[in-house]
Amino acid sequence: MEKKIMLTGDRPTGRLHIGHYFGSLKNRVKMQNEVDECYILVADVQALTDNFNNPEKVRKNVREVVIDYLSIGIDPEKATIYLQSMIPEVAELTVFYSNLVTIARLERNPTVKTEIAQKKDVFGESVTYGFLGYPVSQAADITAFDATIVPVGEDQQPLIEQCREIVRKFNSIYGETLREPEAYLSETKRIKGLDGNEKMGKSLGNAIYLSDSEEEINRKVMGAVTDPGRIKKDDKGNPSICMVAYYHNLFSSKDEYECVCKECKEGARGCVACKKQLAKNISDFLKPFREKREYYEAHPEIVDEIIIRGTEKAREKAKKVMAKVKKAMQLDYFEK
Ligand code: TRP
Ligand code: SF4
Repeated sequence: MEKKIMLTGDRPTGRLHIGHYFGSLKNRVKMQNEVDECYILVADVQALTDNFNNPEKVRKNVREVVIDYLSIGIDPEKATIYLQSMIPEVAELTVFYSNLVTIARLERNPTVKTEIAQKKDVFGESVTYGFLGYPVSQAADITAFDATIVPVGEDQQPLIEQCREIVRKFNSIYGETLREPEAYLSETKRIKGLDGNEKMGKSLGNAIYLSDSEEEINRKVMGAVTDPGRIKKDDKGNPSICMVAYYHNLFSSKDEYECVCKECKEGARGCVACKKQLAKNISDFLKPFREKREYYEAHPEIVDEIIIRGTEKAREKAKKVMAKVKKAMQLDYFEK
């Protein structure tokens, strides 16, 4: 039987939020128990592609993201958490793969296209070679570990597709060497922001972070977008255009959610009480995460040790795959 190898990760450019949780973190926690090998990378090199002028930001967020992982239940005994920049084989592979993908194909990649449009402040009218090429480096991330399963948010799907194309091209030229990975998408594809925006985003200011305190959650929920037609408490409301109802559906029990909708429609529910109830449910949901987080925040040396050990282990694996790649490419000079 072929080994099931999971690999995934995040750019350390900010803390992770509940959109990430439902989008892919939750699947990772589950999958770590179901695969033969599990790797989670902190993509600091990729983070530099759009933060090359802000290395402090990337560095500062490495530990934050690892604490986010640990707090939600990623188990370092099961999952190898490692730093991308400390695996030189990945950089090497990126160079080899860059011959197997055209510039036109990268420019057509929907994820890259969207991001370039969003990052005019960083790139102006002309994007860097590194950013345009980050799907190539992401293909190296995945294939350097022979990964077969990649739990990601749906926005990442075109990157997995691009990786599969690179693998096929590689195998057709150099012989059957690499495996094609598959994206593993969550059912809750994307969760909306508190402001009603289609996407909850670090840069959009509409997110609830896994690390938010109860006070922060309260404050954010109080500011969430509700049915604008409701002025007085007994006005009949429309929960389908209210973000508070939307989140009740995610964080409250089924009965509670149904009661929210019913009372809202009848004008029998005040928005403030409705928000308070939601804030409490979100806080309760995040409570076990918060407790774990406190432990790791108090023990940064344990977090560092997890990253160091994980990176060593990851490097061993990447070296093995690299040897196979070099052999296929006839770059195995002086090997016996
Ligand atoms: N692109 C991902 C993000 O934006 C991070 C990432 C880098 C990744 N390399 C990966 C995800 C490999 C899955 C597999 O956060
Ligand atoms: Fe939204 Fe609740 Fe107010 Fe209805 S009562 S509009 S669901 S906050």
